[in-house]
Amino acid sequence: MAGDSQTSSYDSALDSLGDWIDASIAEAPNKQLLEQQLQTIGGDEALMHFLHRFVVFNDALAARVPFLAGLIHLTPDLFIDPEADQDFCRQVNGRIAAYVAEAASDEYRMTPDRNLVHQYLSQKFFGGVLRHFQVDGATFDRRHPLPACLAELLGEARGKFFQQRAPGEIFAALGFHVGLEFFADQEFNLVDQYLRLRYPELVAGLEGDGPDRSAYLWLATHTVVEIGHYRAGIAALKAALTYCYPREQAPLMLASIKQGFNSFVDLQRRYYESVRLDFA
Ligand SMILES: [Fe+2]
Ligand SMILES: [Fe+2]
Repeated sequence: MAGDSQTSSYDSALDSLGDWIDASIAEAPNKQLLEQQLQTIGGDEALMHFLHRFVVFNDALAARVPFLAGLIHLTPDLFIDPEADQDFCRQVNGRIAAYVAEAASDEYRMTPDRNLVHQYLSQKFFGGVLRHFQVDGATFDRRHPLPACLAELLGEARGKFFQQRAPGEIFAALGFHVGLEFFADQEFNLVDQYLRLRYPELVAGLEGDGPDRSAYLWLATHTVVEIGHYRAGIAALKAALTYCYPREQAPLMLASIKQGFNSFVDLQRRYYESVRLDFA
């Protein structure tokens, strides 16, 4: 039956996407480059410099997550359930946005007694780092101004694939999103391991601010939450391809996903390369 063969070709396309992502992750030089970069940090000043660039890069990337969820929900008629027979009830954009929103809701988490907004936690982390090394914020800013090339890359991190809102761009933004969630897991775990090994007193100091005020919470949280965001992102990709409308566009959209994923790998590599050159 035509319907069955179409379904199985979709299934194999979805399976092959998973394989493609696994292969791309294995081929990406980013992990090795970041490991090398961490090994070359030669002193407290270089460490503060690196951690500042690490914090602001992740803040730029985090900011795009709720934007992407909103953009998907704001785009009707791109994701359609062919089984439903009424125009509004056919829309799947809210459900696909929800997979991305899972990561966004972590980003803005507040409980009745705690503010766990990731930007705020990252400010407590970096502020704690400066205090540990007894450097005031204004002095740090004077010694480590953000060069134009990094400001440009942060702009790219915030806005890549958000300019035109065309279907191909939205799929590319989804691919980029899955890339950033996977590589964030890798990046946070590498930095955490490095700090625990090389700067145990710093980590102990940041962790020791008390359970409700731990300045290390931002870093520690991201060593575990990102992999869940990545899995939710994979689910978003699969749903997006399954409900893509018109369905004939699916191969093209699959290519856009791959383009977006590769763009993230490339951006992260260029960003840390620029950070390294900036402090050389
Ligand atoms: Fe976050
Ligand atoms: Fe995340």
